[in-house]
Amino acid sequence: MRRRVGIVGLVVSFLYFVGASAAAAPEGQPMGVGVQKAEFGKTKDGTRVELYTLTNAHGMKAKITTYGGVITELDAPDRDGKMGDVVLGFDNLNSYLAGDPYFGALIGRVANRIAKGHFKLDGKEYAVVKNNGPNALHGGVKGFDKVIWKAEPVEAKGGVALQLSYLSPDGEEGYPGNLTVAVTYTLTDDNTLRIDYKATTDKATPVNLTNHSYFNLGGPGSGDILDEVLTIEADKYTPVDDTMIPTGELKPVKGTPYDFTKPTKIGARIDELKPDPAKDNPGGYDINYVLRMIEEKKVPQLAARVHDPKSGRVMEVYTTEPGLQFYTGNFLDGTLTGKNGVVYKKHQALCLEADHFPDSVNHPDFPSTILEPGKTYTQTTIYKFSAK
Ligand code: GAL
Repeated sequence: MRRRVGIVGLVVSFLYFVGASAAAAPEGQPMGVGVQKAEFGKTKDGTRVELYTLTNAHGMKAKITTYGGVITELDAPDRDGKMGDVVLGFDNLNSYLAGDPYFGALIGRVANRIAKGHFKLDGKEYAVVKNNGPNALHGGVKGFDKVIWKAEPVEAKGGVALQLSYLSPDGEEGYPGNLTVAVTYTLTDDNTLRIDYKATTDKATPVNLTNHSYFNLGGPGSGDILDEVLTIEADKYTPVDDTMIPTGELKPVKGTPYDFTKPTKIGARIDELKPDPAKDNPGGYDINYVLRMIEEKKVPQLAARVHDPKSGRVMEVYTTEPGLQFYTGNFLDGTLTGKNGVVYKKHQALCLEADHFPDSVNHPDFPSTILEPGKTYTQTTIYKFSAK
């Protein structure tokens, strides 16, 4: 018995040590606060994949895997203080390896679309991998969502943090330059998940990073998100052509179903965005918003707020980025089964991808996505959870 207590004690102190050393959790905090590491499986070529659990002082958790930097689970409190998962995803690596629509993943080197996978930079033509009809989408066939990231728990003020890093070699998916990327996920004690991105390059290259979490504030198994109430801090959006490439105009949202300047149920006008099977358009929201005050964005500013009247959960998105892609899970069609056997159907989640406008590299009028050698790319996006 004494021996068992001894072993349990050892394991507990080890876990506490990992947590405390990573997060510098103040004394007296509940057990489990910090960063814990577990195996998540192996890729087909035998590379080990890990799953890290970040736990803050209130018991809020974020699970992050080194495969694609994917957030597999994110627990946030409802109005009764009950924790519940608010993102779609899988509980095993094989389901991610089998292919999925970027659930929770880090997206790069260039998020969203590049028309015809083509751009010109410093007088040179580049062809990047096309993986979405005529266009390149979310970094190509093997984007940052499908690579293995190095992970290391790091110190964070007022919370716990995990830093992921990846070196994207020159020519990967057609992009120029060795790109060194670091992404830090910080779960703070005010129930905020903060994502800080940094990148440097040795040749000029477009860079546009984001996270592609699918949120459902009622929980992934609670049905669709059409009754969730959304506000977006944008008066304009970038209309697109039949292949989802911006026409170049910045159009006012006023008088259109894209107007979320006032809190509005997501389902209120979604039927006006009709499917068009001939154009592989499943209907629903899938559009980039031009966030207000883009010039002043040195610090993250409020971009959107979502409220789920049923659970009371509220999520606010703050970002340094000029754009926000709002997507209502239109391509989810019941063919994927996620955590706890839940089948993911159309509109069962929403994505709010903070980044630059689609196809910016071919639109000189849009804020630039070009990173030059000697400069550092940064972006910060914050998801803040509360309940009412
Ligand atoms: C979104 C994009 C959609 C779709 C989705 C993944 O970011 O806007 O058109 O490609 O990712 O299924």
